[in-house]
Amino acid sequence: MCGIVGILGTHEVAPLILEALKRLEYRGYDSAGIATLDGGDLDRRRAVGKLINLSDRLVHDPLPGKTGIGHTRWATHGAPTEANAHPHQKGPVAVVHNGIIENYRALRAELSGSNFESETDTETVAHLCAHYMAEGLPPRDAALATIARLEGAFALCFLFEGEDDLIVAARKGSPLAIGHGEGEMFVGSDAIALAPLTDRITYLEEGDHAFVTRSGVEILDENQAPVTRAETRIEARAAVIDKAGYKHFMAKEIHEQPVVFTEALGRYAPGAAPVFPEALDFTRFDRIVLVACGTGYYSCLTAKYWFEQVAGLPCEVDVASEFRYREPPVAPRTLALFVSQSGETADTLAALRYMRGRADLVASLVNVGTSSIARESDVALAIMAGVEVSVASTKAYVNQLGVLALLALHAAGQRGVMTPAELSAEIEALRHLPEQMRHVLALEPRIAAIATRLAEAKSALFLGRGVMYATALEAALKLKELSYIHAEAYASGELKHGPIALIDRSLPVLVFAPHDALFDKTVSNMQEVMARGGQVTLVTDAAGAATASEGTAAVLTLPSAGRLTAPMLYAIPAQLLAYHTAIAKGTDVDQPRNLAKSVTVE
Ligand code: F6R
Repeated sequence: MCGIVGILGTHEVAPLILEALKRLEYRGYDSAGIATLDGGDLDRRRAVGKLINLSDRLVHDPLPGKTGIGHTRWATHGAPTEANAHPHQKGPVAVVHNGIIENYRALRAELSGSNFESETDTETVAHLCAHYMAEGLPPRDAALATIARLEGAFALCFLFEGEDDLIVAARKGSPLAIGHGEGEMFVGSDAIALAPLTDRITYLEEGDHAFVTRSGVEILDENQAPVTRAETRIEARAAVIDKAGYKHFMAKEIHEQPVVFTEALGRYAPGAAPVFPEALDFTRFDRIVLVACGTGYYSCLTAKYWFEQVAGLPCEVDVASEFRYREPPVAPRTLALFVSQSGETADTLAALRYMRGRADLVASLVNVGTSSIARESDVALAIMAGVEVSVASTKAYVNQLGVLALLALHAAGQRGVMTPAELSAEIEALRHLPEQMRHVLALEPRIAAIATRLAEAKSALFLGRGVMYATALEAALKLKELSYIHAEAYASGELKHGPIALIDRSLPVLVFAPHDALFDKTVSNMQEVMARGGQVTLVTDAAGAATASEGTAAVLTLPSAGRLTAPMLYAIPAQLLAYHTAIAKGTDVDQPRNLAKSVTVE
């Protein structure tokens, strides 16, 4: 979750570290800090809140030096205060850390003579290392001895007083990349952070330790034996991150959806039938297990309807944090599919590792091709959404849905449930989707007007049936995380089993109901809401609007869509509604409070 940067440079590093941290701020923005070595002297600056606060502090109180480490924090242990901000320092050692040191209390008790300044688990690492150095161990050995004592999941960087040409880095559970330059070396939580500095990246593997100097990197594996890890070149495209004239990354990413969806379609359905790697041979599987977190989970929940209804394939879906500890028995001929935008979500990665050796094939859908989840899968499918900066996922969700829809069609074709002509017709419908998405995007002013009213509410309810149930869940999540308005979603048939008690005139209720086979059922539930004074906004198509607008507070009319296309189309008003409610409430759209883009702790 937190972001880490280290630079052994040829110029002053504080400005470069600050720039790199900006690219990592999506990982956390509670506080930030930098430590540098100047003529061997260790010094640091830290500030609470967004990076801009650290940047301001550095203007008044610069930090000289050509070697340094930096950190942007998402608080786990201890409130977001300056004392809890990284880097943590004890004597000659400064440390930045992403992850959780699970045995920090025991280690802290062991170091009871030491004065701790923070409530963090990370400070224990600095103290332990300083303790080993005080016992006479040189910096590299002290760092190795420290890392060997740590339990939990972490990525760490150590900086040592008097050692201008050394950063020690370690990876166990949280990703870390080493960047190669000319007479310079870099360390970062991901390659994107390092993109303007270098495109030559070596990813550390689980358990790796790295001694980074200006002349290169020496890597030891989990048994502290020297290993060579491949150097790869990252795509230059990853470096291009700007708002392209939009006020927020989220707005830009919502509006990019027709384009990125077309790219995914071009990749997985260039012709009349879906095209996937050979290993995804659905004649080999009797069931599919889908696992993800958050928005990814809702794309999986949508796909459950598709795999079952379209492909006749039994499908199980679970959130990764539950799945990983459930110890589910795995039947033969199971395909396990993990969905993750970042490819680094700790729970999803742990669930994937559980399924390795149990499932027949471990596949993933990721937006970051170099991520841990991609690298640990038998088959990793890129969702082709491009870099998603806004913490709230939008285009990644829609492209996850797109690739899952095509995968369900692929399964249907291979299992003989659909004929080539039927497959071709479904793909043709998907090809019209970008144009339909543009039509929905053009409804933005109307959606913004509905959002202005929604912003007054304390709570909101979202309803849907079938695939629209998953859409309702995603819509409620978007509203919660962006506007901090309490929102719940229910399968509309569940309403009368409890949630209907919530309905009164103050409760906005948003109903997602394309005019499909379930429309009349959903409309009956909607009538039950309106009969009790609930203020309904109906999101439907022209046929739905013609029959069910009466009594509603507002109707949004979308192009007509089928079971495979509706979830992508109906996601857009849900996203725009949350976006404009956040604008109306003045919340931080791209970086909502308490959140982080990449959740690398469980
Ligand atoms: C919400 C959101 C999160 C993520 C979740 C999983 O807008 O973005 O719920 O979907 O944290 O992240 P990934 O997909 O990176 O595994």
